[in-house]
Amino acid sequence: MDKMLIFSGESNRKLSESISRALKIKLSNMDVSRFSDGEIRVQIKENVRGKDVFIIQPTCPPVNDNLMELLVILDAVRRASASRITAVIPYFGYARQDRKDQPRVPITAKLVANILTSAGANRILTLDLHAGQIQGFFDIPLDHLYAINVFLDYFKKRKMNDLVIVSPDVGGIKMARAYAKRFKAGLAIVDKRRNSPDSVDIMHILGEVKGKNVLLVDDIIATGSSLIEAAKALKRAGAKNIFAAITHGVLAANAVERVNNSLIDTLIITDSIPLGGDKKSKKIKVVSLGNLFAEAIKRIHFEKSISVLFDSIGR
Ligand code: R5P
Repeated sequence: MDKMLIFSGESNRKLSESISRALKIKLSNMDVSRFSDGEIRVQIKENVRGKDVFIIQPTCPPVNDNLMELLVILDAVRRASASRITAVIPYFGYARQDRKDQPRVPITAKLVANILTSAGANRILTLDLHAGQIQGFFDIPLDHLYAINVFLDYFKKRKMNDLVIVSPDVGGIKMARAYAKRFKAGLAIVDKRRNSPDSVDIMHILGEVKGKNVLLVDDIIATGSSLIEAAKALKRAGAKNIFAAITHGVLAANAVERVNNSLIDTLIITDSIPLGGDKKSKKIKVVSLGNLFAEAIKRIHFEKSISVLFDSIGR
């Protein structure tokens, strides 16, 4: 693997380190600092000429800083003549504005796809995009991983009887159906209406949850409103224990406090976004994506199939 180099941006070094441990390859040397006016300064400290370079940088909050840092690193690596550059983006920020759902609004997911490509990315490796069709916003190859197997491993170690997988909104049905199939569980859907970016109303629950353990699945927890309101409605409908498996723990504002005070028994998230010390909670468990990303990176480097990592999901 001497032609492969892995660089880590600053947004989630812990995840980069676990990917590098799993690959048994050291993170390559790069200085990332700030000029006195706050501009990002990057210097690659080793030769990347002709190399297959992977840059790991989830664009999580502070999203503008982390995205800009990724762009600056891409530019530096491209100008240093790498043969191929893969932007490894475990959490792809700005994805929720993926269509014009109101007059005169942007499609930021497409904008970010364009600027990543202009900055020098030749491929993208990402995970549980907010909407699958964002893959088509890129005109370069994109490999899309799923966290489902990582969550399945977590739950295999815990006996979960009478399980129903619940999607907290209609948009998440496809994801929930895949989980129901893999977990060999029932399926239910919460009919959610969003009043504003921070608040939701639950209208109905479609499916049987009475006397069942529930696993809510979703791509993102941001304010927590969707999950917390869904948990209330599910309890009213007679659900027993309520678990949630959410890929990206954005956990904005006071989301952790709200989860702590909610009817959710355990929230399991991945480490696509680092969980800061102030966000630690007994209710929140983190599963690592290190092995999954390491395997995907190895397969991309050796031009092997990636679909074997998620073939069995049956989406
Ligand atoms: C919505 O379409 C997403 O899948 C999530 O349900 C949503 O982004 C969660 O946001 P919040 O935690 O703020 O309700």
